[in-house]
Amino acid sequence: METLEERARAVLPPEVFAYYAAGAGEQRTLVAQTAAWDDLLLRPRVLRDVSTVTTATTVLGTPVASPVLVAPAALHGLAHADGELATATGARDAGSLFVVSMRASRPLEQIAAAAGPWWQQLYVLRDRGISDEVARRAADAGASALVVTVDVPFVANKPTGPLPPLPREAIVEALQGRDPADERLQQAPDLGAADLARLKEISGLPVVAKGVLRGDEALRCLDAGADAVIVSTHGGRQLDGVVPSAVALPEVVDAVAGRAEVYVDGGVRTGGHVLRALALGARAVLVARPVLWALAVDGADGVRDVLDGLTADTRDALGLAGCSSPGDTGRDLVRI
Ligand SMILES: Cc1cc2nc3c(=O)[nH]c(=O)nc-3n(C[C@H](O)[C@H](O)[C@H](O)COP(=O)(O)O)c2cc1C
Repeated sequence: METLEERARAVLPPEVFAYYAAGAGEQRTLVAQTAAWDDLLLRPRVLRDVSTVTTATTVLGTPVASPVLVAPAALHGLAHADGELATATGARDAGSLFVVSMRASRPLEQIAAAAGPWWQQLYVLRDRGISDEVARRAADAGASALVVTVDVPFVANKPTGPLPPLPREAIVEALQGRDPADERLQQAPDLGAADLARLKEISGLPVVAKGVLRGDEALRCLDAGADAVIVSTHGGRQLDGVVPSAVALPEVVDAVAGRAEVYVDGGVRTGGHVLRALALGARAVLVARPVLWALAVDGADGVRDVLDGLTADTRDALGLAGCSSPGDTGRDLVRI
């Protein structure tokens, strides 16, 4: 049967498919990330009552129907004419939470109007005023957290090369009216602890640091004011050859030691992967590419369906492992 990715490949312009699919460098992390989840062998419990299994949980206090959230990804306008409005609608209908990229194709206020619960992702740009402005706008529009991406001091090279000129509906909304060649719009290579603290203060929102792969670095983020962390390789799109998120997760969970919620993304494709992440101590997972493929193939309905499918698969995996909820999982479920 044709996979969702194959169906998306058939409908997307080749350069857009390549942009979404790409990893950095030799693609080692991209290739390794899903395999790392598969490599973790499960140890199911038995003689447990799983007549009722729920996938519902909370993230930073916000109720969600599923521990599967939508990761921030740039330029949904390349996949679908409605861009992030369709993604927001699909995620809302699935009871999920949408992390809106700062590189979105649509104004965040419009996305907010279509969304259920949502967080705003931020890059700290060389011109910090632009990032600060997006943080304020997001707070005003009802975001319940900021996700500050900390693994992009600059964008890594990808074999796909630069995108051709973008259609009008795909351009990066937050930078509209500004000259894209202006280097003040690039990521700040000196992004530091003070940025997390400042963004937290000006927005009044909790801050989630996205892109940590080490326990000590997670603690540095918390010490800088972060309220949660996302274990992430940026989908294999930044430093190539890094430890896959599935392998890094236990170290981060141990270091954080209950001080903050820990989320994880990168190559999560099945309910079994979600179960492994929960068992290792993640509060929730995020997915990017499956949502982009679904958006390209079937718009908002596609996004809803792919998320509903992952949630149903997660419910099955929980029950078959002898767990009745995300909180009922533990490390005993995984042979490390
Ligand atoms: C096309 C694309 C664009 C992305 N854009 C962003 C972004 O704007 N901000 C960000 O923090 N992460 C971005 N990411 C990384 C994702 O948030 C996430 O960490 C990763 O892709 C998850 O892995 P998965 O695609 O295997 O599910 C992007 C990923 C892709 C594939």
